[in-house]
Amino acid sequence: MCGIVGYVGHRNSTEILLDGLRRLEYRGYDSAGLAVLGGRGVTIVRAQGKLKALEEKLKQHWPQGPLGIGHTRWATHGRPSETNAHPHQAGPIVLVHNGIIENYQELRHFLAKKGHTIKSETDTEIVCHLIQQRLYDGLSMEQAFHHVLGELRGSYALVVMNTNEPGRLYVARQGSPLVIGVGKGESFAASDVSAFLPYTRQAIFLEDNDWGMLSASQAVFYDRKGNRVKRPLKKIVWNQTQAEKGGFKHFMLKEICEQPRILMDTLANRTVEKQKRVFLEGVAKVLKGKFPYNKIYIIACGTSYHAGLVGKYLIEEMARLPVMVDQASEFRYRRPIIDRRTLLIAISQSGETADTLAALKEAKSQGAKIISICNVIDASIPRASHATLYTRAGPEIGVASTKAFTTQVAVLILLALHLGRGQGKISSGFVDEAISALLRVPSQMEWILKRSKSIEAMAKKYAKRSSFLYFGRGVNFPIALEGALKLKEISYIHAEGYSAGEMKHGPIALIDKGMPVVVLAPQDKTYEKVLSNIAEVKARGASVIAVGTEGDRELARHVDDLLLIPPAPWYVTPLLESIPMQLLAYHMAICRGTDVDQPRNLAKSVTVE
Ligand code: M6R
Repeated sequence: MCGIVGYVGHRNSTEILLDGLRRLEYRGYDSAGLAVLGGRGVTIVRAQGKLKALEEKLKQHWPQGPLGIGHTRWATHGRPSETNAHPHQAGPIVLVHNGIIENYQELRHFLAKKGHTIKSETDTEIVCHLIQQRLYDGLSMEQAFHHVLGELRGSYALVVMNTNEPGRLYVARQGSPLVIGVGKGESFAASDVSAFLPYTRQAIFLEDNDWGMLSASQAVFYDRKGNRVKRPLKKIVWNQTQAEKGGFKHFMLKEICEQPRILMDTLANRTVEKQKRVFLEGVAKVLKGKFPYNKIYIIACGTSYHAGLVGKYLIEEMARLPVMVDQASEFRYRRPIIDRRTLLIAISQSGETADTLAALKEAKSQGAKIISICNVIDASIPRASHATLYTRAGPEIGVASTKAFTTQVAVLILLALHLGRGQGKISSGFVDEAISALLRVPSQMEWILKRSKSIEAMAKKYAKRSSFLYFGRGVNFPIALEGALKLKEISYIHAEGYSAGEMKHGPIALIDKGMPVVVLAPQDKTYEKVLSNIAEVKARGASVIAVGTEGDRELARHVDDLLLIPPAPWYVTPLLESIPMQLLAYHMAICRGTDVDQPRNLAKSVTVE
């Protein structure tokens, strides 16, 4: 996730772009840059690090010109560096991009054959060269831009300048947000309205496949086929802070709601339907050939640890390899058996968690091979690993982890499929079906999100309760742990997660009249057993809130409240069940008036022991 901004009008664009980038910095901050077109041609200034580094550079030379584009980066392809920072340029074409171009390798080969020299490691730079190539081929700028959009696979929001066309910006959107600001004699383009709210409250939200041109006085849009389209002009009534949250009340809610789109990014160019295999570019070397390891450790903390527990069920079932999951803080202080035949998977959103990093280093020093699953590019954990699979969730601002968790689980599903195939334990047909099931998840998540009103109502009903139990079996057990963690973190309600089978060994003593018990009950192989567990807690007076499969009338008869997920294979249900768990915790916190995004006593990244 990156922040992009463009300006064409009557003022000097440098100030406006910088101001916009400051408001977009929450979207990414590992490098930033801007390009301004004035009387003396184009000036591009880029810097690695936070926006402050760019501001320092600009003090030496403040570009002047009424047309410009800016970018604040969250690295996906290519490490954070000045060379990889946007804007990118090829001849007269200068552009900024947010998203992932899935077929960039293929396009890169094509451009190399045509004699283009690509300077950065990014997927973005190839877009400049492609447009330049189509201009060489004789197309007009408008035709070239439209043509190139048809060649790109993946997600993008693009703002493009042609240095031979002062006074004009080209824009396009597919899968990544882009909104146009319409001012008096000036136009803006940005990832969200916060970037231009001080200048105008009139906005046009582009739809997927829209593209067009902006000048100071006009905005023209087309659809994929090149037909002219009109998009309504809307008046923005949000204040500045709301705008950064895309109109959502909290970052956590925004992050919950963006999971369908984010998951598409996580899966992008790792799953191709009908290809019967997954592509895990980051770990190819470590996992190549015959599997040389005799055991796998997964280490992590908090929510990432829960993702690791899901990983154990997935890898053991699909690849038939032994997996041990440890909290990193425990792992580092015992004497785990590690040697050169140990594969250690470290999971961390931030990539900076002190315990996970220390445990990883310890295992590495004893000969283990390290793969990390991480969200932040080039953080300490990926740097200390032999290979990394990035989750591509974009910056997670809410302290309670949501989208980082589901993307970690998605990556673990891909890894399990890869290992399972490598071990010959699953067929290519199974992989094919799994890929189709995974690609259905974003729309299934949308389906759940559309029904979130009922969760809000349910939260009101239970918000005064002081204690909750969460039960799940099999791969749903870690989701019970995660659901309970979410609730306690942000609503400060006491909550415990248990495997449903363990209930009779102690926790059942807690149940009395009206005690809320959240039960994960999808129709998988543990379903019948879970129904019995529900009967047992109901018999002792519990109020049961179940998460079950759409159309499950039997379950509906036995529970007090039912949250539905669409039917899906067992290994996909953790992704779907997570959404009602997150929303329930969120709405309970709202009812109790707690600080959702910054709950007491917690920090987003725990960099001390
Ligand atoms: O950045 P990491 O994934 O390594 O962080 C681990 C935990 O600190 C983190 O998951 C924490 O439990 C979250 N606040 C949970 O919502």
